[in-house]
This record gives sequence, structure tokens and C-alpha cells, in this order.
Amino acid sequence: MKSLFLFLFILSIFSAASFTQTKHKNGQNISKKLFGKLNNGKEVYLYSLQNKLGAELKVTNFGATVVSLTMPDKNGNYKDIVLGYDNLKSYENGTSYFGAIVGRYANRISKGKIKINGKLYQLSVNEGENQLHGGKIGFNKMLWTAKTFVSKDGPSIELTLLSPDGDQGYPGKVTLNVTYTLTNNNELKISYEGTTDKTTVLNPSHHSYFNLTGNFSNTILDHQLKINANEFTPIDKEFIPTGKIESIVNTPLDFRKLTAIGAHINDNFEQLKFAHGYDFNWVLNNYNKKVREVADVYEPTTGRYMQVFTDQPGLQFYSGNFLNGTEIGKNGIHYNFRTGFCLEAQHYPDSPNEPQWPSVILKPGQIYRQTTIYKFSTK
Ligand code: BGC
Repeated sequence: MKSLFLFLFILSIFSAASFTQTKHKNGQNISKKLFGKLNNGKEVYLYSLQNKLGAELKVTNFGATVVSLTMPDKNGNYKDIVLGYDNLKSYENGTSYFGAIVGRYANRISKGKIKINGKLYQLSVNEGENQLHGGKIGFNKMLWTAKTFVSKDGPSIELTLLSPDGDQGYPGKVTLNVTYTLTNNNELKISYEGTTDKTTVLNPSHHSYFNLTGNFSNTILDHQLKINANEFTPIDKEFIPTGKIESIVNTPLDFRKLTAIGAHINDNFEQLKFAHGYDFNWVLNNYNKKVREVADVYEPTTGRYMQVFTDQPGLQFYSGNFLNGTEIGKNGIHYNFRTGFCLEAQHYPDSPNEPQWPSVILKPGQIYRQTTIYKFSTK
């Protein structure tokens, strides 16, 4: 009897710790395990999605966060290519937005102030006097609900967040659905749908840091980047757009052809000094609300190649300038200076205060939509 109890006890520990398979279809698997409990006692899960080719995406419903993504190199070796943590506590305490959905408003809002229909709203501020990525408790720090299924393109997870009226100072109760699909074509496809019950602003984005070498002790400086943009939105010393749109031609921000990220990162250029490297919004070409290819990245040593497609007007390219070794990631790795880069599809920063730019207003009865795809292959 005693040994039966012991056996059941060990079995229960084992099953709590390992993934339980919930769905399985033609080589596509979806499974789920407990990731941990929040301070308020709520349970948080980690979901694993595998496609037909053998790539794996792990997502937690805390912050709708991508925790890991494996992709093959030119020799077929799969490695995790996104930065992140291996425990929930670090996601609760972390300040780098690894893999999260950021919102309601990705990027900065000057002084955390917006005007809607002539009424001024003071939002929560969390970067000096300004707001970054939605305020003190952004979407990345909230618990989302999750539903998994195998779609026609591959295994999917749909995450839903209810952001109440007044959340971080924003008007309107917002419901946001974000669906990640790991397609059978090695794409990470992200589809967003949002609604509100009062006029508000909505501009969420995905914040994965990539390192296509799959070895996070390497910097990303030898990755080659191309961005389909001729212009950007210059910033002041506080990273707030000046309201101008300027050409990137003959500047270190010219990525119209594949160029090593490190080639001009230390050039004597005021904008690079303000941002400590690349941390700007590129004004993407051919904005007509349809999905088009906007950027590609090639990593020469592994041959990994990433293409970015989106229907958004802007792309924030951030070269990991604030990583300084203090963040301890998966497998105890310290993420050092410029060991990951982000390509965040979004509207231009501070658009609520720049009415000449594409609008970020969402009204009751309208549906906010975004599609962004990161497609992986080798060359
Ligand atoms: C911003 C960086 C910021 C980072 C958060 C990026 O989207 O552009 O300035 O430091 O997010 O870690």
C-alpha cells in the first residue's frame, strides 16, 4: 500500500512537471503544462506547439509571451532563436518585454498624455515622464486566457485579454485576441483582433528578441538586415518623435540593401547617439493596410534567414542596446549588450499626438486588425 502511494505521489509530480499532450494531427502537436503561479495564486500555463516540419513554439498566457522558438540552420540543426526566461517569476519581474505582446500602445507616448475628442487623458508613465509599451502594467504583465487548436496552416494558440475601462488611464474596455500560428511553412504568424466600448487608441505589437545564431553569447552585429523603407521618424533625447519624417538615404539608417547591423552602428550620427544604437521607427514603403514584405535578416554562419511581413505602417528596429548582462535568461545565460534584436511592426510612436500620421483611433463597432508574419528558411 505504502509503495502504491509513493508511486502515485511520484507520478503526480512527474505529470505536473511534464507537458500533457492535448492535440495531435498529422505530425502537429499541441501540449500544455503548468508554468507557475502568480503572486495572486493564479495558475499560468506554458503551451508547446509543434508543426509538421519539427519546429517548436512555446508560449505562455502571461503577457501572451513567446518563450521559445526553434528553427533549423542550413544543416538542419534546430536551435532556439528567441531570448526569454525559463521561469514565470522572471517574466513577472523582467523589464525587457522578451517575447511579449506590448500594449495598449507599443512604443512611446509623450508625457503619457493623449487627447480623444478634445478630452485629455493622463496615462500611466513608466519611462521618466513618458509612457513606454502601455504603462506600468502593460499587456505584457497581464494574464490572458488561451485556447489551442490545429488550424489549416498549422498549430495555433488564441490568447484573449480584457483590458478594463480606465486601464493605465486609457478610456474604453478593450478586448484583444492574439493568435499565434506556427505554420507548416516555418512561419510565426501573429493575427490580432481588438474591439472597444468607447473611443480609444490601440496599437499593440510583438516584442520577440531574435538571435538567429541560436547561441545567445553571440552579438547580433554580424546579422545582415534589410528594411523596405526610405524614411524614419527621428527622435529627441527621450526617444520621443520630433514629428518630422526624414530620409534614411546617406545615413547609417539606410538598410535598403542587406547590411550588417554592426557596419555603421558606431558612426558619428546624432540619432545613433541618442538611442545608443538602433532604436527607431522606419516608415515602411507601400502602406495600404495590406500585408507586404517589409524586412529580411540573414545570419551568415548558420544560414538562417528571416523575412518579416506586415500590414502595419511602421517597424521599430531595436538592436538590444539596453541589454547589459543583468537579465538572466534560459539555461542561466546572461543576455549581454546587443545579443538580440527586435523588429516590431506597429504604428509610428506617439501617433496620438501627431494627427498627420496614420490614425490609431479605435471606435465602438470597429475592429482593430493586424497581421504580422516572421518567416524562417535558410540560404
Ligand atoms: C524600445 C526600446 C526599449 C525596449 C524595451 C523597444 O521596443 O524601442 O527603447 O528599451 O523596447 O526593452
